[in-house]
Order: sequence, then structure tokens, then C-alpha cells
Amino acid sequence: MKNKGFSKGLANYGDAGFSRFLRSAFIKGGGYSSDALSRPVIGIVNTGSAYNPCHGNMTQLIEAAKRGIFMAGGLPMEFPTISVAESFSQPTSMYLRNLMSMDTEEMILAQPMDAVILIGGCDKTVPAQIMGAASANVPAIELVTGAMLTGSHQGERVGACTDCRRYWGKYRAGEINDEQIDAVNDRLVASVGTCAVMGTASTMACITEALGISVPGSASPPAVTSDRMRIAELTGTCAVRMAKENLTPDKILTGKSFENALRVLLAIGGSTNGIVHLTAMAGRMGIDIDLARLDDMGRDTPVLLDLKPSGQHYMEDFHRAGGMATLLRELKPLLHLDAMTVTGRTLGEEIENAAPSFPQDVVRTINNPIYPQGGIAVLRGNLAPGGAIIKQSAADARLMEHEGRAVVFEGLEDMAERIDSEDLDVTADDILVLKNIGPTAAAMPEAGYIPIPKKLGKLGVKDILRMSDGRMSGTAFGSIVLHITPEAAIGGPLAYVQSGDRIRLSLAERSLMLLVSDEELAERRLQKPMTRPTAPRGYKKLFLDTITQADQGVDFDFLRAEHFTDKVPKQRD
Ligand code: FES
Repeated sequence: MKNKGFSKGLANYGDAGFSRFLRSAFIKGGGYSSDALSRPVIGIVNTGSAYNPCHGNMTQLIEAAKRGIFMAGGLPMEFPTISVAESFSQPTSMYLRNLMSMDTEEMILAQPMDAVILIGGCDKTVPAQIMGAASANVPAIELVTGAMLTGSHQGERVGACTDCRRYWGKYRAGEINDEQIDAVNDRLVASVGTCAVMGTASTMACITEALGISVPGSASPPAVTSDRMRIAELTGTCAVRMAKENLTPDKILTGKSFENALRVLLAIGGSTNGIVHLTAMAGRMGIDIDLARLDDMGRDTPVLLDLKPSGQHYMEDFHRAGGMATLLRELKPLLHLDAMTVTGRTLGEEIENAAPSFPQDVVRTINNPIYPQGGIAVLRGNLAPGGAIIKQSAADARLMEHEGRAVVFEGLEDMAERIDSEDLDVTADDILVLKNIGPTAAAMPEAGYIPIPKKLGKLGVKDILRMSDGRMSGTAFGSIVLHITPEAAIGGPLAYVQSGDRIRLSLAERSLMLLVSDEELAERRLQKPMTRPTAPRGYKKLFLDTITQADQGVDFDFLRAEHFTDKVPKQRD
């Protein structure tokens, strides 16, 4: 088998015969017989790590995937890459996403394999893996680790991390004490697996299935269930078929499949991070995501999935309700049914193949949505010339047409120092503005969920309009404008907002306006010129010198495709 299996990608000693001879000897040294060496080689990316409980079922998933590979006549080869977990990565997991994608791409290309199974789950890992595999363009299939189970606190069902934030808000407002917050802390994460709500991990799991880059039914099974293990086994058999048919990512990750994924992102009330990651993934394939058209798409895509933080259920409920098949069936008129999937069948064929529907209350019908428009709206205006977004389905409708006085924090440190001060001049009608948490300033942390100032919390204020150039966890909720582009640290208009300025948000007009004259802004710009941050060495230098803004997916500029040939969503007639 020329250029297949272990004959692929020989180490270069200037003598191909010797390279093959040497490889064969070492593989046999690993205990493999000649028979094993003639089979399609399927790489399995192991991202298990003691620092990543979201991947805590990795050993079982790999065992099941291997079983599937053997059953289909392939040879599994497990290998490690970087693993990135949200709460164990500083300064932010976003800082490491592109590094993980480079690791994934280069190890797929460096080692001989005919197809690869990418096992990821925690927020940044799945986009990193798909970005890397898209650039490598070797047959690839994503296997997500699956959601954690929900826990129970004094009779109330809880799950990370919408409930983490809700309880922390109560604690900050003095509604619960130290003992009570400790008690709920024991209950929030009831098993290994990814966050139990429609956070970024669940969003990416659903998007992955909508893209066709994971097997049908793979998004929703919880991490510790037999369903999840059978999905892993099926992923193994599917990978062998993909290897034989050379079903490469460029045949699956097309403009149509990205449109399907965007549609699903809107309909599930998905994490705002999904836009950044989809933009980065599409950018590897030379596909632009047009934010204005995405907003148009949102206007005719209702939110159907009743999951926290937009709704009330958890991922395990979505699974019991039939998972993605139930959702995709409802969205069918809005999808490209001819988009290809990892099974070699189209998305439309897979929807037809799925088990029949049954009564359930987690996925609403298109005529009875939980929110009439897509979960995410795109804003523009003189404060965000490159765009900003808001998760309208998780926001307070009263604040969606609002003008208020800016209360500005220059960065995270400034915010931490002053937000809870009794002296902070703030009312519930004001707008909290946090600068310098964009890609170059701070690797875009999920700090856009600015806490309610303690003095307002004590008065019972549950929401206030907040805005920043940062991101927000998909598990968070509130009236929060994010991803203001360009960011403050490179001289975006946000840099020049001052406390006391007035800002107007109009969701109906999709506008975000700083009510300060152009002349005054030009003067402020002159007084405070900005220079792009850099670093003396290492990965940080690479990051700061090449990171793009949110509208380009916060990918490194040199990792994006050389030529862009498509733009989605397409303009509708
Ligand atoms: Fe890993 Fe939420 S922290 S998925």
C-alpha cells in the first residue's frame, strides 16, 4: 500500500527504503505483527489530563473507539496533544486554543495515519482540533467527551455552570452565607464530562454534529453513559471507512455545512463563543463568516432548545428528548440537506435515518419557540465599527432599547478594585463598560460577565447593561454586549469612552452608539495614542504579533487560509 498506513510520511534520511525499514523495525519493537501493519492506520488524539476533568472519561472513550476500529479492520494508534481545560488555564484557555490547533495539525501531518479521531470536549479543545484537522486535511472525525450529569442541592437540581454563576450572584448579594456556598460547591459538578448546560462545550458539540464532522447522535449523550461509549465505538468504525474512502475535511467543511452550523448555533441559543470558533474554523477553509448576514439569519431562526442559560433544561434532558435528531428535524426547512457528513451520507439522509420523533418538552416546534429570533444578535455603530454581539435570548428585554451613562473600568484590575466599593457612582440605569479584555490586551478572557456591583446587588438589582471587548462563558446570562471590535488595546473607539459619556443600545436597530461627537473622539485619540502590545519572546510574542480580532475568529493571521473563496451565510433572495 503506497502512501497508506505506515508507508505514509517517512522520516527523511535521504533513503526512502531505509526509512521504511527502520520504521518497520521500530513498530515491530512495539509488538505489532506484519499483519497489523497492512491495515488502515487510525490516529486517536488523546487529550486526557489530570488538569481536565471535562475529559475524565478519556480512557473509556479510547477503548471503545479502538474496539470500533478493530471491528472495521483498522489499526488504532493513540497519541497525545495539548489538553486545555477552562478553569485550569491561565491567563485564559483562549490563549492556548491556537497552540492546541497547531499541535493537532502538525502531529496529524507528522505521523503516519489514514484518518484521525479527535477526542475533545472542554470549550476550546473541539474548535482547536477541528481547526487543526481542517488545515491538515487528513480524514478526521470529532468525538466529544459528552456532558456531565446534573447534581442536586437541597432538592434543587443544579449543574455547572449556569447554576455556579447564579449561586455566586446570591452569595455576592448576601443572600447566602459561606457555609451555604460551600455546600452547593460540592453539588455543582456531579460527574466527569463537560458543562451540563448550553455553554460553549455543549454548543461546540451540537455545532460539530451540524457540521457533519461527528457521527449522527454524538452531541448529546452524557459522558458516563453507555450511549456515549457506543458513539465512541461507532466513531471508530466510521473512521476506518473514512480512511478507505479518503473522506477529507474539505469535502465536509463546506460553505453549506458552516451555514447549517450557524443556523444550529442560533436555534440552540448557543454560546456567543460559538461565533468566534466557527469564524476561526471556517477561516481555515477559506470561508468568511459575514456578521451582517448572520444577523439576518438570526431574524428568521427561532430559539427552539429549552436549555439553560436561555431556558430551563440540561444537556441530559436534551439527550432524552432525542438529541440533535429532534432539533434538526424541526429545523429541516432551514438547512442544507445535501451537506456531506462523516458517514458518507448527507445530513438530510441522516435526519431521515434517525429514530422517529416522540412527545417531549425540550425541543420546541418552530411555531412555539422559546425565543422568536436567533439567540445572538449582531450590533454595529461608532462604538463597534467591526461589530459586537449580544446574546439576546439570555438578556433582559427591558434593557434592549436603552440609553444610559457609562461607568468605565479601564481593565480587570481596575474593575476588581472598584466594582464593590460603596463609593462607586453607579445606578441600575447606568451602563458598565469594561476595556482591555480583548485578544491582544488579555487573550480575550470570559470576563465580559461583569458582576453586578455589590451596592446594586443588595438593592435587588439582577441585571444591568454591560459591555466590553471580551468574551462571556456560554453558561452565563444577562444583558451583556461582547466582542466589541476593534478592541480598546489597539485603539478601537472603546478605548476612548469615559465615565459619564452616554451610550445608546438599540436591539431593534442593531446599533451601539457612543453619543460623543466625532471631533471630541478625535481629540481624545490625539491625547492618548495606542500602540499594539507585543512581548520579547516565546509563544506570547507569536500570539501578540499575529492574533486577529474577534471578526476573524481570534486565529493567528498566518494560520488562516491563503485564499478566501466563499462567504456565508449567503444573501437570501
Ligand atoms: Fe470544561 Fe465547562 S469547564 S466544559
